[in-house]
Amino acid sequence: MKLSRWVATAAVAVATVATLNTLPAAAGRQYDPTDQSLRNLGLRHNLYLGTAVDMAALDDPADPRYRQIVGSEFSTVTAENVMKWESLEPTRGSYDWAAADELVTFARQHDQRVRGHVLAWQNQLPKWLTDGVADGSISNAQLRDLLHKHITDVVTHFRGKIWQWDVVNEAVSDPWDTPPTLHYKGFWAEHLGPDYIADAFRWARAADPKALLFYNDYNIEAFGSGDPANDKTQFVYDMAKGLLARGVPIDGIGSQGHLGTQYGNYDTLQVVAALKKFSALGLATAFTEVDVRSEVTEGMGSNEINPRLQASAANYHVLLQACLADRHCLSFTVWGFTDKHSWVPGTFTNEGLANIYDENYQPKRAYNVLRGDLIYAGPPYVLPRVPQKPRR
Ligand code: XIL
Repeated sequence: MKLSRWVATAAVAVATVATLNTLPAAAGRQYDPTDQSLRNLGLRHNLYLGTAVDMAALDDPADPRYRQIVGSEFSTVTAENVMKWESLEPTRGSYDWAAADELVTFARQHDQRVRGHVLAWQNQLPKWLTDGVADGSISNAQLRDLLHKHITDVVTHFRGKIWQWDVVNEAVSDPWDTPPTLHYKGFWAEHLGPDYIADAFRWARAADPKALLFYNDYNIEAFGSGDPANDKTQFVYDMAKGLLARGVPIDGIGSQGHLGTQYGNYDTLQVVAALKKFSALGLATAFTEVDVRSEVTEGMGSNEINPRLQASAANYHVLLQACLADRHCLSFTVWGFTDKHSWVPGTFTNEGLANIYDENYQPKRAYNVLRGDLIYAGPPYVLPRVPQKPRR
């Protein structure tokens, strides 16, 4: 080969390698080929890997592994409880920002983005609010003003520090509710009617024009979850489409991803289809609260535990693969990472084993499956994420 030709070929080769290695800087860090953490592997795809954070565990000096793993494995964090209304305003008119601010500071120190959770939800409301409504001392008109004030105060307090806000959470009923036909359920819809949803997005946008605004719900991983006329994913899709048509500033759909190995669940292609249908509306997507629990009984042996661990890992794999395949899926957040600190045993009777590390912080099969997905995924089916711009 002539020298000039060789130089040209070498230049192209160098340029190609440079392109492959030039990954978008995310969370202030560059991809490091020697680092196998989830957050670093996510940089290959510009995908943020996240966890919900239990502030008591983060602050427990007797449990240093918890804090260390939150910082080293994840590039985004969500407050498991401390940004909920009952935590922020336990007494009417007096805010307690301490724990939430501490998480935001931790995130900044660890180059992490913050998902804000949650603005309008029917659970974990302060007692003064629900009691006031129940005894008639807070009218529906006053309640609407209180929600407006809450959203404005909270979003303003954290302005510029939140990447994605869960503006409205779990607004849609399930087929097992009464009446079984899907409808807007819960405290806010009952008192304010379904228009509180559009209001909440508008109020959040007014308080922080840069945060991405999400609708967040469970059991919306795939379409076709039974009766097509009563399909929750379709209901949420129609809702989002309707909000967009009215110019409501919604930027994304968060699919919580609370799964159980005792259920049928979905395969990757079904989940990809749902995410892509949402992103075809111009919305970002995210998995926001992933955990995959199993039924457990006292004294279960490895012959019973192993299939559960495998099924759990397989479901994590389906959700992460689907997220990787949708270029608008911005983040994949687990709802706690260790079985030591999990909401599952306290919420679902005789269920557990839901997280990616065991109670002793040993990585489980699910953790390694997620790493494998992040390592082995690439073009043409997996391409870096497309950043989302907040809708005006
Ligand atoms: C849960 C927390 O994990 C628990 O600690 C708390 O007692 C109840 O709430 N969907 C959501 C989350 O959006 O906020 C919930 O978090 C889990 C279900």
